[in-house]
Amino acid sequence: MFPKEVYTDRRNRLRDEMGSGLALFIGNNEAPMNYPANGYHFRQDSSYLYFFGLDHDNLAGVIDIDNDMDIIFGNDVSLDDIIWMGPQPTMKERAEKVGVEHTLPMDKLAEFLNKEIGKGRKVHFLPPYRGEHFLQLKQLLGLNTDRVKDYISVELIKAVVKLRSIKDKYEIEEIEKAVDIAWEMHTTAMKMAKPGVVEREIAGTIEGISLAKGGPVSFPIILSIHGETLHNHYHGNTLAEGRMMVTDAGAETPMHYASDITRTTPVGGKFSRRQKEIYEIVLKANMECIEACKPGIKFRDVHLQAANILASGLRDLGIMKGDVAEAVRQGAHALFMPHGLGHMMGLDVHDMEGLGEDYVGYDEETKRSDQFGTAFLRLSRELQSGFVLTVEPGCYFIPALIDLWKKEGRFTEFINYDKAEEYKDFGGIRIEDDVLITDTGYRVLGKPIPKTVAEIEETCKG
Ligand code: GLY
Ligand code: MN
Ligand code: MN
Repeated sequence: MFPKEVYTDRRNRLRDEMGSGLALFIGNNEAPMNYPANGYHFRQDSSYLYFFGLDHDNLAGVIDIDNDMDIIFGNDVSLDDIIWMGPQPTMKERAEKVGVEHTLPMDKLAEFLNKEIGKGRKVHFLPPYRGEHFLQLKQLLGLNTDRVKDYISVELIKAVVKLRSIKDKYEIEEIEKAVDIAWEMHTTAMKMAKPGVVEREIAGTIEGISLAKGGPVSFPIILSIHGETLHNHYHGNTLAEGRMMVTDAGAETPMHYASDITRTTPVGGKFSRRQKEIYEIVLKANMECIEACKPGIKFRDVHLQAANILASGLRDLGIMKGDVAEAVRQGAHALFMPHGLGHMMGLDVHDMEGLGEDYVGYDEETKRSDQFGTAFLRLSRELQSGFVLTVEPGCYFIPALIDLWKKEGRFTEFINYDKAEEYKDFGGIRIEDDVLITDTGYRVLGKPIPKTVAEIEETCKG
């Protein structure tokens, strides 16, 4: 846990951002897998962690915006609980660790809120994302589950996004720890990428590293010799010479901060000429876009820079043709990179996505594009010092997409379909790093993970 002043300060700053009323944060509960006592790994809600820090189930927290008072709702354990879980601190002791003086049992929450609502006070809450949250909000506030969404507080969302977007030194330290665990996961994956190995042997090994060094993985591991499928969670293929393995994996620290790293490794440890040609284009996009990151620049412009580098590289190889800037303006490059350049990171690997992607990545000056490809950009707005984000360009040859666009005759002045079709057996490449925006520019977080052709080939030998 961070020092208690960190949590007190966050709650006070939230008060400063908000007009009036009560901000209600509902923690997560245990979620059963196949019967009630057999639960999924427990994961606390990230905003609850951010403001109240307590990492167990059946909790809520209220920040009284007008009265400088915070309350944690939660139950002390019973003797039964102690028998099964061992001794536990009291709620008072737990609350004290995050600077909260007032605690009440969970079953007092509805009564408390109703009394305040009766006085004409507003209860602000964030968008629910678990079925149980909807039911809790119904029970607490008397809202029909299908109307809950109409009462979400945009004011609270905006205040929380404003605070959580700027990472403090403790958070940056945590994310760096998560990247350092990812270093071990990714270098291990590179060494294991030999013909005959089944993907799940590697995926399982690196998931074990995350668990052994920190916590669970920060999202289900993406590891595949079919890297052209962007989020490929199938791990049953056998690695074969001539293919590349895309590994997109990160760890969560015990404080629940995430890393999110992608590397692409040639099976057997040596890139072919054709692989190297495409790899160098994606690497250039990764490195030059990282280099472009600084406060004041719009991330959409960095995304478009990646698109230009990709289109220009593919034109040099004869896969694209014509005017690069115009091809990118019209969105032709998205055949090969149908995703955005990156997203915020922190307590959530796609940080705050549950609060609404547009609140996190867009603002009044930056509206979401409706063009295929750029429309999927999660972060578009101007960068500020303290943001942590990913830079993750890729190049993919997706047979179904190539077939469709060719059939529809899309962008024939920019895409050489005959040439693109030669790459239908190629797979995909993505290179992803986690980047902190500093006052003057950027810092790539964590111990550098092999990334150049030479570095990867050298690591594979190990
Ligand atoms: N790990 C999913 C992503 O890179 O966004
Ligand atoms: Mn990733
Ligand atoms: Mn990512």
